[in-house]
Amino acid sequence: MPAQIIDGKEIAKKILEKMKQEVSTLQKKPGLAAVIVGDNPASKIYVGMKRKTCEKAGIYSEEHKLPEKTTQEELLKLIRKLNEDEKIHAILVQLPLPQHISSEKVFSEVLLQKDVDGFSPVNVGRLVAGNENSVPCTPKGIIRILEETGIEIAGANAVVVGRSNIVGKPVASMLLNRNATVTVCHSKTKNLGEITKQADILIAAVGKPGMITEDMVKEGAAVVDVGINKTGNELVGDVDFEKVKEKAAWITPVPGGVGPMTVAMLLENTLSRYREIEK
Ligand code: GUN
Repeated sequence: MPAQIIDGKEIAKKILEKMKQEVSTLQKKPGLAAVIVGDNPASKIYVGMKRKTCEKAGIYSEEHKLPEKTTQEELLKLIRKLNEDEKIHAILVQLPLPQHISSEKVFSEVLLQKDVDGFSPVNVGRLVAGNENSVPCTPKGIIRILEETGIEIAGANAVVVGRSNIVGKPVASMLLNRNATVTVCHSKTKNLGEITKQADILIAAVGKPGMITEDMVKEGAAVVDVGINKTGNELVGDVDFEKVKEKAAWITPVPGGVGPMTVAMLLENTLSRYREIEK
């Protein structure tokens, strides 16, 4: 039987409605500051989408676009200014940053209460230790998709393909926090297909179009595709969707799967940063 296709857009829409409702009851408007350094076209699109959705929910947002040649000190200065700004409850520094800037230094400077992405070293450590007070948006969206769909995480064999700081590592921690048995695979993994075939939950977060083929997937698995790859004019994921959907029990599409959930989780995170500051 073909897989049930998980509608991330629909789940995200419900969350957005709920956020809008919650925001309308607040005395002060929550505020998000998004910072982009350089000219990465994908970053501009993502930040544009994030701001548009925030505004739909009644959240104030502002964008700080800095040129590629911005120095680390200049960026740190902006962060310090935003840390002090009473309109701003959430600071988002879009990745990737230019090579000459240390993301660790930048995220260390963001006030913990305003760390909407959970990228500060303290929040990274907290997540590993089981405290999910501030966690990155994409991993949080992946977990929410699994929970909303009723997929059992505790005791499941979860295989994460990709070990980025933005998705692979934090989602592995979140799965472990929920008692999955977690394996993280990467470019040096031997016999990748043998490992992915053991997965009850398979998370693909690599950035290679169609790299997860049907022979790598267990019958009845839940497959979450985090890839957003542009091939010509089309957006495709890391999973060979048409073939894998015949074998999996659940699968997320690209677009319309994890992407909208990332934005929805940013709204939730912005609101929880607001509540921590304005309480
Ligand atoms: N770049 C790719 N994904 C993300 C994200 O979730 N947050 C930030 N800040 N940058 C990203």
